[in-house]
Amino acid sequence: MLGRKHKLALIGMVAAIGLGAGLGGGLAQAADDGKNVIAYRQNVMKGIAAHITQIAMVAKGEVSFAGHVAANATAMANAAKIIPELFPKGTGEGEAGVPTEAKAEIWKDWDKFAAAAKNLEAQATKLAEVAGGGDVGAIGAQLGEVGKACGGCHEPFRTKKPE
Ligand code: HEC
Repeated sequence: MLGRKHKLALIGMVAAIGLGAGLGGGLAQAADDGKNVIAYRQNVMKGIAAHITQIAMVAKGEVSFAGHVAANATAMANAAKIIPELFPKGTGEGEAGVPTEAKAEIWKDWDKFAAAAKNLEAQATKLAEVAGGGDVGAIGAQLGEVGKACGGCHEPFRTKKPE
C-alpha cells in the first residue's frame, strides 16, 4: 500500500508529465515560423513538379519506365493531402518577410483552395490506378487531368513570377 504522501507525489508527477506533453505540443507549433513554412511548401511543390515531369517523360515515350508511374502518382496524391496544412494564415504575399507566390485569395476563399487540393489528390490517385494497366496512352490522358488540377489551383491562387 502507498502512503498518502507517496500517492500525492505520484499524482504530482503524472500531472507534470501531462503538462509537459501539452506544452511541448504548443511549442512545436509556435516554432514553425512563416518563412520556414514557405520554404518547406515551395519544396513540396518542387517535389510534385518532379513527379509529374517523370510521368510526362514516360507518357512522351522518352523513357520506358511505365512501371514507375504508379509510385510517382501516389507520391503526388500524398503531397496533395498535406497542401492545406502548408498554408497557415499569415504566410501570404507580403506577410512573412520572404517572397511567396501565395495570393491572399487563398484565405479569402479557403474552401475553394482546399477543394483544389482535393481534386489533385483525386486525379493523382486515379492516375496511379490507370498506371497499373501499363497503357502509356491511358497514362497520358489521365496525366492531362492531373495537369489541369495544377492549373485549377495556380490560376486563382498563385501569382506568377515576373520573368
Ligand atoms: C491547391 C493548390 C495547388 C495545387 C493543386 C498545386 N499547386 Fe503548385 N503552388 C500552389 C501555390 C499557392 C504556390 C505558391 C507557393 C509559394 O510561393 O509559397 C505553388 C507553387 C508551385 C511551384 C513553385 C515552387 C517554388 O519553387 O517556389 C511549382 C513548381 C508548383 N507549384 C508545381 C505544381 C504542380 C506540378 C502541380 C500539379 C501536379 C501543383 N503545383 C498543384 C498551389 C497549388
